[in-house]
Amino acid sequence: MAKPILIANWKNNPNSLLEVKTLLTQLARGGRVYKKLSLFIAPPLPYLESVSLKSKSFASLASQDISSVLQGTHTGVVTVDMLKSLGVRLTILGHSEQRAMGETSEMVTKKIRTALHAGIVPLVCVGEPTRDDDGLHFEFLREQIKSSLAGLNKKVDVSKLLIAYEPVWAIGKRAEDAISPSDLTETIIFIRKVLTDIFDRKTAESITILYGGSVEPGNAQNLFKSTGIKGFLVGHASLGAKELLDIAKSLIAK
Ligand code: PGA
Repeated sequence: MAKPILIANWKNNPNSLLEVKTLLTQLARGGRVYKKLSLFIAPPLPYLESVSLKSKSFASLASQDISSVLQGTHTGVVTVDMLKSLGVRLTILGHSEQRAMGETSEMVTKKIRTALHAGIVPLVCVGEPTRDDDGLHFEFLREQIKSSLAGLNKKVDVSKLLIAYEPVWAIGKRAEDAISPSDLTETIIFIRKVLTDIFDRKTAESITILYGGSVEPGNAQNLFKSTGIKGFLVGHASLGAKELLDIAKSLIAK
């Protein structure tokens, strides 16, 4: 069976290179545990090279986004080829914080194609802003998945991408405010149904789905156990070496 996946989304943290180095030294102490899963660290761009050098033995490199601009002169743009040359193997795409800044599902689709073309694994984030008793959030989720994956080829493209289900209302909170294991199980079944409608059952079953949104040591084990996910996308708790190690342990606990 494939190893569980753990992605550390550092967002716009830490504030200095010095803090990055300290955190990496602490993370390296968990190397023995991290080797039992697929750990990716997604730092802010200026730290990519330092993270790459210091985490080679226990983690792979990810980026938090990519640009779909490939050619021409564009001040401020970092191309996917540059990321690839630094060793980036996976990219987070369509994160709700990017969508909140104006990223559309159409832009996400374009970036998925750009990543696939460059040989970088796209991790496509989807998630509803709120939940309601009438289940309208399922409609939102269906539309977001459909529009983000529009036009992708089930054989060539979809087999290489991952999905992160990140309910926006659960991001950046505490463990007790995250989704419950039963609601997560239900939503993962729903996402697979939508994927079956878009592609087919076999393709839908083969897509790896992760969960993100207030994953902490206190809820990791219950959210992982029998909910149908293959790992986590972790924000704030990935900035604490002990917290991340405890989350990693819950992914490999028997
Ligand atoms: P959180 O962030 O773990 O701090 O909720 C998750 C994310 O936004 O990817």
